[in-house]
Amino acid sequence: VRAVTIQDGRLVVADRPDPDPGSEELLVRVAAAGVNGADLFQLMGAYPAPPGSPADIPGLELAGEVVAVGYGVRRFRPGDRVMSLVGGGGQAELAVVHERVAMPVPEQLGWPQAGGFAEVVTTAHDALFTQCGLGLGDRLLVQGAAGGIGTVAVQLAAAAGARVVASVRNRDHHAAVAALGAERVVEPADAAAAGPFDVILELVGAPNLPADLEALAIGGRVVVIGVPAGARADLDLRRLMAARGRVLASHLRSRSLEEKADAARRVEAQALPLVAAGRLRVPVAATFPLEAAREAYDRFAAGGKLGKLVLVTGSG
Ligand SMILES: NC(=O)c1ccc[n+]([C@@H]2O[C@H](COP(=O)([O-])OP(=O)(O)OC[C@H]3O[C@@H](n4cnc5c(N)ncnc54)[C@H](OP(=O)(O)O)[C@@H]3O)[C@@H](O)[C@H]2O)c1
Repeated sequence: VRAVTIQDGRLVVADRPDPDPGSEELLVRVAAAGVNGADLFQLMGAYPAPPGSPADIPGLELAGEVVAVGYGVRRFRPGDRVMSLVGGGGQAELAVVHERVAMPVPEQLGWPQAGGFAEVVTTAHDALFTQCGLGLGDRLLVQGAAGGIGTVAVQLAAAAGARVVASVRNRDHHAAVAALGAERVVEPADAAAAGPFDVILELVGAPNLPADLEALAIGGRVVVIGVPAGARADLDLRRLMAARGRVLASHLRSRSLEEKADAARRVEAQALPLVAAGRLRVPVAATFPLEAAREAYDRFAAGGKLGKLVLVTGSG
């Protein structure tokens, strides 16, 4: 099977043995697989795959057709379209997926959107609703809203009746992010002044934290999900006390099978109906053939995109 592989710190598309599904696993002919920041960190040697996942094939999410199932599989059968988180190994023509983490692909989603769905929708849904309890009328700030997670978070929050302010540094994307459901799209420097906020989804990192605390409403929550701009901050905790606020952080990849299955069921119940209703989509900025994975990674590293970059195979 053709796969994107990491060899001595370089990205090489190479042949690998076909993976074998275990008793509760699906063998999936991958049609599309999203690119994520984690793949770039893994390439740099800074983010090894968790135990049980292929060590040298990156890719945290995929979509494709089930071609074989383990003897204990109950939820899917060959021919089904599925999309899923994986601990690694998604960027290959074949991958194995645990049936409890897999989700059916709604008919409204084409392969590129489905291949870029699982990681960002699960992360955004988990952070906003499971971690922070975002609800009707809550004021949300999404910091770094033009990327994969941000574009989905804006839509999920708007669909849940929250009032969304989005910070986006690339002015070219302001109108597109507003069209996803943000009441206001602001420059990063203007984000705090647009508060107070009940919830702040922090996708940019530590440099924003002092302003996040300034902008926190009483009882507000900051949830840190990504730190591309840096991980160390100097904070005035008196401000956090005054707001009776909370700073949370979360991480998806290292979770147990049970925790990932739980997150997937929540996404199935709450986000997939929004897809069917035409209220949630995954903006795909560009697709690349598997063989052009290096260009896709370079493009991801360059930034400036709206939404996701997705690798597609011959079946995508
Ligand atoms: N905790 C978890 O479980 C988890 C799961 C998935 C992803 N993540 C992390 O979460 C972050 C967001 O993921 P994503 O998929 O949405 O990534 P993405 O598509 O690269 O989006 C990141 C967004 O943040 C903006 N940004 C980056 N650095 C910035 C800076 N210094 N100032 C202002 N804006 C900045 C980017 O703008 P430009 O395009 O202009 O650079 C982009 O719009 C990443 O760091 C990723 O590694 C965490």
